[in-house]
Amino acid sequence: MSFEVADTLDMSTPAAKRASYDLLVAQVRSVLEGERDWLSNLAQFSALVYQSVPQLNWAGFYMAHGQELRVGPFQGKVACVRIPFTRGVCGACATSREIQLVEDVHAFPGHIACDSASASELVLPVVAGDRLVAVFDLDSPAKARFDAEDSRGFAAAVAVLAAGTDWPATFG
Ligand code: SME
Repeated sequence: MSFEVADTLDMSTPAAKRASYDLLVAQVRSVLEGERDWLSNLAQFSALVYQSVPQLNWAGFYMAHGQELRVGPFQGKVACVRIPFTRGVCGACATSREIQLVEDVHAFPGHIACDSASASELVLPVVAGDRLVAVFDLDSPAKARFDAEDSRGFAAAVAVLAAGTDWPATFG
């Protein structure tokens, strides 16, 4: 089996960005097709995003275990392992179950700097039924890298992942 994955999606204009996220969501469907294993799907999803979305230095998952997040499949530098729901951008996302779009991480109270190169961050909840099973975290070395279009695009991609994956009872 082989996949045609764009090396770098064009996000240089709002129109190009919209089209690129449509393509990313289609690629997520294609890459996950026929597989519902959580570990395989999260690994593939992280790799696809990191490979094709420009200006990222980290992309991956923190899995929900009670009131604590633990690092899951990701691409990028070694990261911190455990994050309580009370801490950081990921914790804020897990607690609120709302997308966190942070234009300047240095201005976010409690931001956890895993990589000093990170300047902006986008974190999305991964919800299966009524369970928060994980958060998907994206870091960028560019300030204000993410906007509402990125939020919408990644939310659509994460929704495909959430619906196409069997989530063990240990998460949530
Ligand atoms: N910056 C995150 C921690 C995770 S790393 O970025 C990979 C936070 O503040 O929650």
